[in-house]
Amino acid sequence: MIRCLLFISLLIHSSLAAKPPNAGQKAAPQAQGPPSKKWQTLTGQQPLVIARGGLSGLFPEASIPANDLAKTLSLPGSAFFCNLQLSKDNVGICLSNILLDNTTTISTFFPNGQKTYNVNGKDIRGWFALDFTADELLANVSLTQNIYSRPSQFDGMMPIATVEDVLETKPNKFWLNVPYDSFYNQHKISMVSFVEKAVKFAPIPYISSPEIGFLKAIGGKVNKMKTKLIFQFLYPEETEPTTKEKYSALVKQLGMIKSVAAGILVPKEYIWPVNKNNYLEAATTLVNDAHKEGLEVHASGFANDVILPYNYSFDPTSEYLQFVDNSQFSVDGVLTDFPPTASEAIACFTQDKNGTKPKKGFPLIITRNGASGIYPGSTDLAYKQAVDDEADIIDCSVQMSSDGVAFCLDTIDLNSGTNALSQFMTNSDTIPELQAEAGVFSFQLSWSDIQSLKPQIQSPYGTKEKIVRNPANKDVGKLVTLKEFLEFAKKNAVTGILINIENAAYLASKAGLDIVGAVSSALSNATLDKQSTQQVLIKSDDTSVLSKFKDANNYKRVFNIKEKISDAPKESVAEIKKYADAVIVTKDSIVKITDYFISGTTNVVDEMKAANISVYAHWMKNEFVSLMFDYFSDPITEIASYAQGFQVDGIVTDFPGTASKYMRSPCTDMDPKANIPYAILPVEPGSLSSLIAPEAMSPAQAPSPALQTSQVVDPPLPEVVKKKDSSSGPSSNSGKSDSGSKSPPAPSTSDEKSSAFANGASWCASLVAMKVLLLAN
Ligand SMILES: *[C@@H]1O[C@H](CO)[C@@H](O)[C@H](O)[C@H]1NC(C)=O
Ligand SMILES: *[C@@H]1O[C@H](CO)[C@@H](O)[C@H](O)[C@H]1NC(C)=O
Ligand SMILES: *[C@@H]1O[C@H](CO)[C@@H](O)[C@H](O)[C@H]1NC(C)=O
Ligand SMILES: *[C@@H]1O[C@H](CO)[C@@H](O)[C@H](O)[C@H]1NC(C)=O
Ligand SMILES: *[C@@H]1O[C@H](CO)[C@@H](O)[C@H](O)[C@H]1NC(C)=O
Ligand SMILES: *[C@@H]1O[C@H](CO)[C@@H](O)[C@H](O)[C@H]1NC(C)=O
Repeated sequence: MIRCLLFISLLIHSSLAAKPPNAGQKAAPQAQGPPSKKWQTLTGQQPLVIARGGLSGLFPEASIPANDLAKTLSLPGSAFFCNLQLSKDNVGICLSNILLDNTTTISTFFPNGQKTYNVNGKDIRGWFALDFTADELLANVSLTQNIYSRPSQFDGMMPIATVEDVLETKPNKFWLNVPYDSFYNQHKISMVSFVEKAVKFAPIPYISSPEIGFLKAIGGKVNKMKTKLIFQFLYPEETEPTTKEKYSALVKQLGMIKSVAAGILVPKEYIWPVNKNNYLEAATTLVNDAHKEGLEVHASGFANDVILPYNYSFDPTSEYLQFVDNSQFSVDGVLTDFPPTASEAIACFTQDKNGTKPKKGFPLIITRNGASGIYPGSTDLAYKQAVDDEADIIDCSVQMSSDGVAFCLDTIDLNSGTNALSQFMTNSDTIPELQAEAGVFSFQLSWSDIQSLKPQIQSPYGTKEKIVRNPANKDVGKLVTLKEFLEFAKKNAVTGILINIENAAYLASKAGLDIVGAVSSALSNATLDKQSTQQVLIKSDDTSVLSKFKDANNYKRVFNIKEKISDAPKESVAEIKKYADAVIVTKDSIVKITDYFISGTTNVVDEMKAANISVYAHWMKNEFVSLMFDYFSDPITEIASYAQGFQVDGIVTDFPGTASKYMRSPCTDMDPKANIPYAILPVEPGSLSSLIAPEAMSPAQAPSPALQTSQVVDPPLPEVVKKKDSSSGPSSNSGKSDSGSKSPPAPSTSDEKSSAFANGASWCASLVAMKVLLLAN
């Protein structure tokens, strides 16, 4: 039953993917159409996308859905990579790990089946394919994901794939990797004779192995015009079983390798080494050296859900570009668990400037504190980066110093975004009206004190997931005043600016600071109030603040809805309409999420748009932990989904460069007549979650509430009290605020994965589901 559903849904997905009718033309991009890109590969052809076990970043390796989805969403001509293991009775299966218990449920069905074997000099204990017949492996055992950042909900649903199963799905190109030839030989099972038969049964354009002995043995038995033999390098310190030399020594013997192989497959660090601090070092000469010998070079180890070197700013497409589109060389292929990401990088983002186009008709790219994914937020460097990255709207969240200087910083608490806690610890204060935790508040320090602070890069997942943003940029740049920000925006002719105003009531009544007045006069001093070339967006969570800007016709007012909402009823929208032209809503107010799968969409975007209110989605990040499984851990897919699928008018992001890379690429045109090199498709909400057995999903949670009119209405702003003297701020005990400001901002984390996604509970749930399914079969 579940398998039926699976296929139906995959069919739907395939037909969607097939929509651009140029699918047939895509295979030969060099043959026709405008400028064919010259690649620095060995042959000059476009690099090959090689899918390790299909889309194994999502579905278990080599399963039919992994294979089908990889075929549907990869560039035409991509290869399917199968790691060969053999059963006791010589049936080939595709699994990377020699231990079957690692990626299957075998230990449940054969609890006593584990053995210890010496594999290439190391004793390993577990379940080995060669101890079981194909019948035993295929009857009851099923596949599981063994990487914790990948969904476990498909565990126990899909049988192990045989080589034959995969060939029947007619992969574009089949790549057979033979990792353990000498081990199998010791146990009287011949990989060579299996492969010899396989090449007669179906075309196999690539056969690879980390064992020179195997390549030599198979060399005389395949037609080298039809099958390329590739030598696979393992990690440098490992020993090659035939020559007993380390791979680090063999990499210096490319001439010898050329005598047994047409190419090499190397871990990507052989090409771009990564140092212990997780930065890329200069490239080795391996690709050019190998090309000189006439060897193809394929790089392995690509995945979206790993911690990439900092140089890539968490954008997996940047990593592929480093390998295929640098000025020195291009590898001939990339072996990846996420073939759609490799495909879009190669087809859409390579630096052929003729291919890029002006960003037209796409949602606005609105920064969150400038390019705060790359530099400390709200600094000169973050804003400069945002302009370089072609953001449309750069933003300043305005804060006030005790002496009335308006400047840009994420929050009123200097602790988030600067080193205030270490410099001004004694000023730490608890003000429940502003936030629950203690803080060092901007309006309690003078601007000269604030200027002495060092900005700090913010890592949303730093403590929880240990994914920190570039430490080299940890405390660079300087904070800017609102005045400097406006001058910068004018000088660089950005499309627009967004000014965020929070805590206005508190600042007026308790600190004697007029933030609204400061913003108004700064805008008019910069003559931004009397022009229409640059958009001015005023954002606030307080409708009374927005109403202060009512008369400025050329300002667009943006109401910030911080809470997650499930619906925006007519009355609440009508109330918003009185104050605002646009809203900012959280991403999970737009989509419904269950266990990091997108199960559907809400009506919020439609309801707002029906009232001519623009919708901006908050907030996009590149880190894979922020992404639902449907996006394949690819930030580009999330952006494409909000832009083309959920039809928002703007996205708020820490990484404007990633958004503009997508929006300016030649691959965004959804018109079937457009001859695009590759379609970057938005996700189909529910297409993956519908494949999952209900028992494998968490119980449905109570839906988040609909937006209430009372959440929109705010009391009028209080008078600005007279300041006692400019150097001392208000005391925290100065009585209860009557500011009426809504509940203090709680960081929204509900839409983000945490390490909990790998917790034992879901593994158990999957095992239960598996049994149910198998009983049903
Ligand atoms: C880009 O287009 C221009 C004019 O059409 C052409 O002269 C140039 O060779 C093209 N560049 C590339 C890299 O294709
Ligand atoms: C599977 O093997 C990998 C390495 O080969 C290891 O990191 C992982 O923890 C293993 N997973 C399980 C479930 O045993
Ligand atoms: C599969 O499971 C069924 C039911 O538990 C059992 O009868 C059958 O022998 C198993 N098949 C194999 C090949 O182990
Ligand atoms: C990666 O970033 C580090 C630190 O900024 C820099 O020193 C290094 O040159 C970069 N590597 C490459 C290959 O650009
Ligand atoms: C605006 O300009 C006037 C006159 O130059 C100046 O007094 C005032 O401080 C300026 N206001 C801001 C917010 O820059
Ligand atoms: C929608 O709002 C824009 C301003 O944001 C205005 O120019 C336009 O006329 C409005 N359209 C309708 C149908 O109300």
